[in-house]
Amino acid sequence: MKRIALISVFFVCILMNAPAQNADFALNHYAARNFIAGALSTAELDTVLQAGIRAPSARNSQPWHFTVVRNLALAKRIVPDIADGNALIVVSASGDGKTNGAEILDCGLAAESMYLAAQAIGLGSRIYTGPVDAVNRGLKSDLGLPAGHSAVVIVRIGKVRQVDAVSAASSRKAASALVTYK
Ligand SMILES: Cc1cc2nc3c(=O)[nH]c(=O)nc-3n(C[C@H](O)[C@H](O)[C@H](O)COP(=O)(O)O)c2cc1C
Repeated sequence: MKRIALISVFFVCILMNAPAQNADFALNHYAARNFIAGALSTAELDTVLQAGIRAPSARNSQPWHFTVVRNLALAKRIVPDIADGNALIVVSASGDGKTNGAEILDCGLAAESMYLAAQAIGLGSRIYTGPVDAVNRGLKSDLGLPAGHSAVVIVRIGKVRQVDAVSAASSRKAASALVTYK
């Protein structure tokens, strides 16, 4: 009887804490800078990619393709300072990567899902758009992007030295300057 009571208290505590823990996770992500060398496992990559595949999209059109760059020489042509073992996930969609509005937003959401999933499993992640134009100008065929696709956004994932997420993140504008209630 005592054991059942203890187990019940345990599960009630978990249920009461769950929303707070989830919010904590959503508030504490940061764009990693301190990537280190180290191989990613297939399971880690699969989890991150599944998060991208599971992302919401307009009319559930899922317009994206995910090109995983693990080859260091090729990855360095996109992000020159990349560490060995990091992966770049190039998210592409049909069109020029600039004017296909809904697809760009969808790819952005997939990128955010992968960014968050990577951090949820203890990896570092960072979103990049800086190299996208260069990729579309000169690397489409080396990357083997699907015909008619252009890169929209790139997510880097990799091992990181563990740091406190709150102190790692840059500051944000105050909610009072950003939020209006009516
Ligand atoms: C759409 C987008 C594009 C970004 N492009 C780059 C980039 O090209 N190079 C880079 O170093 N960081 C890039 N970042 C990372 C941002 O600089 C970073 O998310 C921002 O400074 C907040 O960092 P924090 O969450 O660690 O505070 C990009 C982020 C987003 C969301």
